[in-house]
Amino acid sequence: MSAPTPDTGDRGRMERVVNLAKRRGLVFQSSEIYGGLASCWDYGPIGVELKRNVKDAWWRDMVWSRGDIVGLDCSILMHPRVWEASGHIAGFTDPMIDCRRCKQRFRADHIGQLECPQEKGRHPGECAGELTEARQFNLMFKTFMGPVEDSANVVFMRPETAQGMFVNFENVLETQRRKLPFGIAQVGKSFRNEITPGNFLFRTREFEQMEMEYFVRPGDEAKWYQYWKQERFDWYVRLGIKPENLRLREHATDELAHYARGCADVEYKFPFGWSELEGIASRTDFDLRQHADASGKDLSYFDDETRERFKPFVIEPAAGADRATLAFLVDAFDEDEVEGETRVVLRLHPRLAPVKVAVFPLLRKAGQPEKAQEIFATLRPHMVAQYDQAGSIGRRYRRQDEIGTPFGVTIDHTTMEDGTVTLRDRDATTQERIHQSDLRAELMRRIWD
Ligand code: GAP
Repeated sequence: MSAPTPDTGDRGRMERVVNLAKRRGLVFQSSEIYGGLASCWDYGPIGVELKRNVKDAWWRDMVWSRGDIVGLDCSILMHPRVWEASGHIAGFTDPMIDCRRCKQRFRADHIGQLECPQEKGRHPGECAGELTEARQFNLMFKTFMGPVEDSANVVFMRPETAQGMFVNFENVLETQRRKLPFGIAQVGKSFRNEITPGNFLFRTREFEQMEMEYFVRPGDEAKWYQYWKQERFDWYVRLGIKPENLRLREHATDELAHYARGCADVEYKFPFGWSELEGIASRTDFDLRQHADASGKDLSYFDDETRERFKPFVIEPAAGADRATLAFLVDAFDEDEVEGETRVVLRLHPRLAPVKVAVFPLLRKAGQPEKAQEIFATLRPHMVAQYDQAGSIGRRYRRQDEIGTPFGVTIDHTTMEDGTVTLRDRDATTQERIHQSDLRAELMRRIWD
């Protein structure tokens, strides 16, 4: 949870992305008709597809495409002793300070990046206000299990998905006949009562994580740590993030948790500065040891070749689905000139694009709408497709460019004669003719290959 490095001053870009997100149904303020709930966001019809695609791409690449990682989907509420053993009850805290003048609260280690609510352009404490000493504040949300609201019934909303993998280690080992090295992956909601959430989807109190615990033989951890740092960095590049906007930042020794042998962040150059997108940590056998001691269960691994029994070490790539969605969105946002007009375009990788193809009849007559509907119906079961016959063809292209639709299919008078359609590429804005019978396979190839 490192603090963002200072502002690089491209806030205008961030504002344009937030406006586009609202205007085109990607992200809405939560409970907007009641004035909104701070730092809570709802994904709209286009945004929900984008975020699903981010999570699906992660799952496909981390679980399906590999033979060594299996998935889990654990409950959000877990036994309170999980959080005692993991160290979250004692230590999952951030330093908090108050301003005696405006009564606002701030994360003490973020003061240098925050703005004073009273005086623009200044940091908290630089107004006439006086800041209190920093106090530690536990970030876990509490609630009660059952009807009686007393301390015996307190449960926590999980602040990370990781612990679900550790407490199920034995279950997975026994049921899946796994040999080291192997991983357990999970995508799901986590909750943190952040003191200073903000920057749109970047830091919220309810968010989704995509985490994987990779169990290795002690002694092999350095090799796998290097491997996962590179693998996770490359994942963002493969999905279209510009390499110059990404960097790996190794944590200094005094930043490391007491159990960590190493930790590095994949950072993205957000409009508000370089900030953590994902953390890769070498966690030793700390978590398995803690849960074994606290539960009395033997969370060890038996190697039947060497006849040794030991607790595996863990390498953990931990990403945020919302933060990744924001990075993909910001990185894809572009404005260029097409036919003498400025167009807004999201240059999203086709795998991530919320809508894969839009189908347009050139004219609203001569059988073209019916033909376009027929083609639309053949594509719809296989990919998110939209049909649009309203307005000039140029305007229809622009509407799709804004939400990042990589392909446009136009049905014109030639289609009615020979069955070919035009296939338009969002980025190059070029068009080629393709027979309607080849269209689906060609689109699938361009999206997935
Ligand atoms: N199990 C390790 C762990 O949870 P973390 O660095 O605290 O590590 C992992 O979280 C990732 O989860 C972060 O890199 C970030 O992408 C995401 N994340 C954490 N807190 C978040 C928040 N308040 N809002 C949005 N995403 C968050």
